[in-house]
Amino acid sequence: MRLMLLGCPGAGKGTQALFIKERYGIPQISTGEMLRAAVAAGTPLGLKVKSIMDAGQLVPDHIMIDLVNERIKEPDCEHGFLLDGFPRTIPQAEALAAANIVLDDIIEIVVEDEEIVKRMAGRWTHSASGRVYHEIYNPPQQPGKDDVTQESLIQREDDKEETVRRRLAVYHQQTKPLVDYYQTLSQNNKNQRPRYFSISGEGSVDEVKQKIFSILDAE
Ligand code: AP5
Repeated sequence: MRLMLLGCPGAGKGTQALFIKERYGIPQISTGEMLRAAVAAGTPLGLKVKSIMDAGQLVPDHIMIDLVNERIKEPDCEHGFLLDGFPRTIPQAEALAAANIVLDDIIEIVVEDEEIVKRMAGRWTHSASGRVYHEIYNPPQQPGKDDVTQESLIQREDDKEETVRRRLAVYHQQTKPLVDYYQTLSQNNKNQRPRYFSISGEGSVDEVKQKIFSILDAE
């Protein structure tokens, strides 16, 4: 199972990735989480990308391509993986194809920009696990604490409204072209891989999860 979640910042990719990972037993490759871990650890990569991420811009393609190519070679990816946040540009998608990595399913989660701005203002994250909450839509059992570890939740640097709007603009300009790219690839491929699905991400977390499970269970 080689899957990819596509969607704008805040569409719910990270939220749904955790459910998919648990149900189908495949690792989640979240490039955003990998970069945030590098920033938190102060590695050379982290030092290089921090200001780019804080500004809501994309990290250069060559850095991301190397990072993902290395991650996919790890043994836990042998029977599949879930890409969350990669590819995000046409050159990144082309690099994946050049490495002979064929995706089985792409699920695009569609949410309107104004809904995203509301969502991001209430997002709280448990950085060690990647679990995400929302003050109103998906609250933790205890305010400010992770449900599993009881550790403190944090708000991301790039969730300020101004930065969220910049990230949305970057999405429309640089990532949205992947919708056409993958739909065309899907239609032109004899074995119909990757299959392309577009769903609305504006129902409840549980409703979106059920839509994704019904697509993947039908495989
Ligand atoms: P990344 O971490 O990938 O951020 P993103 O794509 O902008 O996605 P988010 O994590 O913000 O949102 P999400 O879709 O996962 O939503 P979530 O589930 O949290 O990337 C961060 C940065 O890293 C980039 O800006 C870039 O600089 C860099 N980067 C990463 N990958 C890169 C790449 N490939 N190339 C170049 N640069 C790269 O949900 C959001 C909120 O909504 C939460 O509070 C959640 O509880 C709530 N929510 C979720 N579902 C629902 C629902 N159905 N109803 C109501 N609320 C909901």
